[in-house]
Amino acid sequence: MKEHTRSFNGFIHSLIESLPYGIMVLDHDDRIQELNRNFSFIFNINIADVKGKNYKEVIESKFVQVFSNLIEDTKVKGFVMDRQISVPILGGVEITIALSSSALKDKDNNFYGLTIICREMTATRELERMRELDKLKSDFISSVSHDLKTPLTSIIGYTDILMQLAKEKSLSEESDYLKIIMQEAMRFARMIDDIINMAKIESGKLQLKKELVSLKEIVEEVIKIVIVQAEKFKFIVNFDNSIPLLLIDKAQMKRVFLNLVSNAIKYSPQGGEIRIDGYTKGDNVYVDVIDHGIGMSEEALSHMFEKFYRVESDATKGITGTGLGLAITKGIVEAHGGTIVVRSKLGEGSTFSVIFPLTMKKSI
Ligand SMILES: Nc1ncnc2c1ncn2[C@@H]1O[C@H](COP(=O)(O)OP(=O)(O)O)[C@@H](O)[C@H]1O
Ligand SMILES: [Mg+2]
Repeated sequence: MKEHTRSFNGFIHSLIESLPYGIMVLDHDDRIQELNRNFSFIFNINIADVKGKNYKEVIESKFVQVFSNLIEDTKVKGFVMDRQISVPILGGVEITIALSSSALKDKDNNFYGLTIICREMTATRELERMRELDKLKSDFISSVSHDLKTPLTSIIGYTDILMQLAKEKSLSEESDYLKIIMQEAMRFARMIDDIINMAKIESGKLQLKKELVSLKEIVEEVIKIVIVQAEKFKFIVNFDNSIPLLLIDKAQMKRVFLNLVSNAIKYSPQGGEIRIDGYTKGDNVYVDVIDHGIGMSEEALSHMFEKFYRVESDATKGITGTGLGLAITKGIVEAHGGTIVVRSKLGEGSTFSVIFPLTMKKSI
């Protein structure tokens, strides 16, 4: 029986040592029963022979008041949660420590001691600060981007008028220049849209207006948009009839497939066949966008969905973009509860699969 108790105490002792918190256990006379290494490190205590001593003899005098308040409160209330204090550690750096404590009582509710736990809060606070900064950044980006759009809309509008005038007056050189201005202004507008959308996704402000829609219809609408500028391509859309209507934000999902099909076109400079297959497998709906373009390396595959990631190689030279398309695409698909995966081989082509759970037809 004694053996048993001894090994149990050993177990408790090891457990207390191994936790990532500073821990001190006191008996009913405020004498130290346990004090782990983390606690000794935080409060600069020599851990040898502290057992049995009153905590006031062990703790640096400047902290005695803090601990005695904590202990008195714990005796009255039964516990104290996260009382924050600053503690200087090596090199004079101050860290924030949250102290929590709780009274130990036996089954007859008699007080026989208390535990004090300290958690290092600096990392948590740093994380909070980063989150705040990140939010500020997203807000800033989206407000600047909106401001950039207003003059751009005028530029596009007036360029359009000038193009008409130049055409009426048969000014061919002017027409050519205006066409370039228009193309570049439109590219600029698309970049701003990408940045606004990315900021929305990152700040969790993407609001989905879901309705029951057909993925096939969305894909067909996308093909209609791109086909005018894709003479070198043959589009094949092949959807199983088994695919139900799904609860989807139509405008956002159009953006998903516009991004994927535009990439398939952009990164297949030879032209060729682009297939979009829709089918159900298991509990999921799949839409594969398959091209036979330049493909990508294993290394590129692992970064594909990162913000601003673009492959720089001979094959992609001269192909413009922001590197935001796939990050936005992934954000939208995931906001719908889906996933996106890619398979690709350098020089052979790529397949992007958008996967949605079939449950998306039932619940919003
Ligand atoms: N279908 C594809 N085939 C080959 N490479 C692709 C394909 N789609 C995307 N990529 C690569 O992934 C990068 C990121 O794509 P994306 O986020 O859409 O940005 P962007 O098209 O603006 O460069 C591209 O720059 C390109 O290098
Ligand atoms: Mg793209």
